[in-house]
Amino acid sequence: MTFSEKIEALVSELKSAKAERLEDAEQFRIKYLGSKGRFKTLFIEFKEATSEEKRAFGKQLNELKAQAEEKFKAWKEKLDSEKDQTQKLDLTRPAMYKEPGAEHPISLIKREIIDIFHAIGFSVAEGPEIEDDWHNFTALNFPPEHPARDMQDTFFVRNPNGTGEDYVLRTHTSSVQVRTMQNEKPPIRIIAPGRVFRNEAVSARSHCIFHQIEGLYIDEGVTFADMKQTLEYFAKEFFGKSKIRLRPSYFPFTEPSAEMDVYWGLENELDYRITKGTGWLEVMGCGMVDPAVLESCGIDSEKYSGFAFGMGLERSAMQRFQIPDIRMIFENDVRFLKQFQTAL
Ligand code: DAH
Repeated sequence: MTFSEKIEALVSELKSAKAERLEDAEQFRIKYLGSKGRFKTLFIEFKEATSEEKRAFGKQLNELKAQAEEKFKAWKEKLDSEKDQTQKLDLTRPAMYKEPGAEHPISLIKREIIDIFHAIGFSVAEGPEIEDDWHNFTALNFPPEHPARDMQDTFFVRNPNGTGEDYVLRTHTSSVQVRTMQNEKPPIRIIAPGRVFRNEAVSARSHCIFHQIEGLYIDEGVTFADMKQTLEYFAKEFFGKSKIRLRPSYFPFTEPSAEMDVYWGLENELDYRITKGTGWLEVMGCGMVDPAVLESCGIDSEKYSGFAFGMGLERSAMQRFQIPDIRMIFENDVRFLKQFQTAL
């Protein structure tokens, strides 16, 4: 076959080519335009052609290829859009089912507590999980080398610059108290939910990562009675119980300090279990903010006073949802998490 005959055959083939389905268009592309297609072969042969043939067919060959490409593109666009439309119109196609998600029990509890305090004028504050030593300890009256630091061992993060102090994974949300007092002027009313970290021997009962909510109220003339009233309100809203007690305790950043218990009752076996037979549920630590803490955060302790409190969320969630083992909260087992769909 001469080169001219080959071109002639190609012209008539291209003219009669049709594509009714996307597959036909693809076949066409492979046969003519593919890396082993007709055009590729012809271009290779063309290199060997006589100069007369080159003059006669060079331009035509290029034009034919452009036409073939054009043809393929037009088919493809048309067939693709038809395919989309038939898909849109397929009324028998099963509906796309989206499994509804569920909020994690910790998030549910967190939101509930935020709502309770929001109603009495507290807003939400946040701080970093990787905190410097000063915000996590020193400013809260845990001086370096002070034995109170032993209560909260943590993980240390080397300062990437190699200079200055290293960081710690915050051991409590109390560091957010410090940040808020540094940045805001009283009256301050905040709650700070967040993730905290402790370096504890790993056992079924201890966890290195958990969640807390912190509260802080600073203004002129805030008293211990205000704290008690606020916590009583919380106990009523959250637990539906109105009897609380404040036991003396110790925290470096509050003076006086207390543990708050809620009277849960002792009516059935479960009550015995969750209150360890006492009828009282230990809920949170609290106290009047130590004047030394106010001063390190730049607040005049002669003029202002306030109270703070902090509680763990895991324990509340376990008690609220009757979760028997704390590990379930962290395992992300869908069978467990699914059960909270109805709690939304
Ligand atoms: N930060 C304490 C802890 O993690 C909890 C706590 C106790 C927070 C008393 C407070 C407080 O704000 O006043 O153990």
